[in-house]
Amino acid sequence: MKRVKIIGTGSYVPEKVLTNFDLEKMVDTSDEWIHTRTGMSERRIASDKDKASDLAVKAAHKALKDSGVTPEEIDLILVATATPDMFFPSTACFVQSAIGAKKSAAFDISAACSGYIYALSVAEQYIKSGKYKTILLIATEIFSRYIDWTDRNTCVLFGDGAAATVLKGVGGNKADGIISTLIYSDGKYADLLYLMGGGSSSPLTHETIDNKLHLLKMKGNSLFKIAVKNMVKAAREALTLNGYKVSDIDLLIPHQANKRIIDAVAENLELPKEKIFVNIEKYGNTSAVSIPLALDEALKGGRIKEGDLILMVAFGGGLTWGSALIRW
Ligand code: UT7
Repeated sequence: MKRVKIIGTGSYVPEKVLTNFDLEKMVDTSDEWIHTRTGMSERRIASDKDKASDLAVKAAHKALKDSGVTPEEIDLILVATATPDMFFPSTACFVQSAIGAKKSAAFDISAACSGYIYALSVAEQYIKSGKYKTILLIATEIFSRYIDWTDRNTCVLFGDGAAATVLKGVGGNKADGIISTLIYSDGKYADLLYLMGGGSSSPLTHETIDNKLHLLKMKGNSLFKIAVKNMVKAAREALTLNGYKVSDIDLLIPHQANKRIIDAVAENLELPKEKIFVNIEKYGNTSAVSIPLALDEALKGGRIKEGDLILMVAFGGGLTWGSALIRW
C-alpha cells in the first residue's frame, strides 16, 4: 500500500481586511470584547466579484507550484466548502476547468469546518487503494455572504479565504506521510450551526428572506462546550490508536474557531502553548480553510521540519469533527 504524503501547500486570502474597530462601527461590540472572547483582531472579506472557486483557484496555483505537480497530473480534485459557488455543478468542477486539470474527476465535500479533515480522509483512501496517485484538495469559503451583518453574535467571527494541498502516493520504506485520519459525526446537534434557506427544506421565498433563513444561524455557547470535548477526544483517539503520547506531538494544528476553545483543548491535553499553531488573530474563523491555511503558514514560517509529528483536529457544523495524524 502506498503512503500518502502532502507534497505542496498554498493559500490565498482576499485583500480586504475587516478589523474589530470596523465592526465597532457596524454593531454594538468592541475590540476588547471580540479579542478577549475569541482571540480575533481582524478577518479577510472577499470582493463582490469573487466566488468560492476564484479563491480556490488562486490557492490551487500556489500549491501546484509548491509541489511541482502539473494540472495534467491531477487524478482528482476535492473541494471542501460550505459556501460553494452554487448547488451544482460542484465548485470542484469550476476549479477543474479553470486550472486545466484535463483528466481529473472533481467533487465537493460538505462537512462545514471539518471539511478539510473529511476531504483528507477521502483522499487518503483513494490513494491507499491504488485508485489515484495525485489529488488536489482545496478548502474555500466565503462565509461573509451568509452572515447577518446586524447580528453581533455571529458577524464578528467569520472570515473568507482558501487553502490548497497536493497529495501524492509514494513508495519506499520511509515512515513519513499520513498515519491516520479519523472522522466523526452527530446529526442530533444539527440545530447548533446551520444555514437552511435555499435548501429543499426551505426553498427561497420572500418570507424565508424576511426571516433571514438564507443567513448562518449559530448557538455559540452550546457549540463551545461540545467543541472542546470532541476535539480533545479526537486528539486522544488519534494518538492512542497509533501508539503515541501527547508528548510525542511536535505541532498541533487545531481548527481556529475561538482562541479560548484552542486554549481549553491545550489545557485538557496538557500540551504546551509553543506546540500549538494559532493564527486566528489575523483571519477569524475561516471554516474548512482554517487548518490548511494554518498548515501552509506553519510550513512557510519554518514551524514544521522533516520528521515532525503533526496532529490536526477539526470541529464544525453537522456536527462533524475529526483528526489527522501526519509524520512530516
Ligand atoms: O467553527 C466551528 C463552530 N463554531 C464554534 O465552535 C464557536 C463556538 N462558540 C464560541 O466561540 C463562543 O460561544 C462565542 C464567541 C460565539 C460567544 O462567546 P461566549 O463567551 O460564549 O459569549 P456568550 O454567547 O455567552 O455571550 C455573552 C454576552 C451576551 O450578553 P449578555 O446576555 O450576557 O448580556 C452576548 O449578548 O456577550 C454578548 N455578546 C457580545 N457582546 C459584544 C455576544 N456577542 C457579542 C459581541 N460584542 N460581538
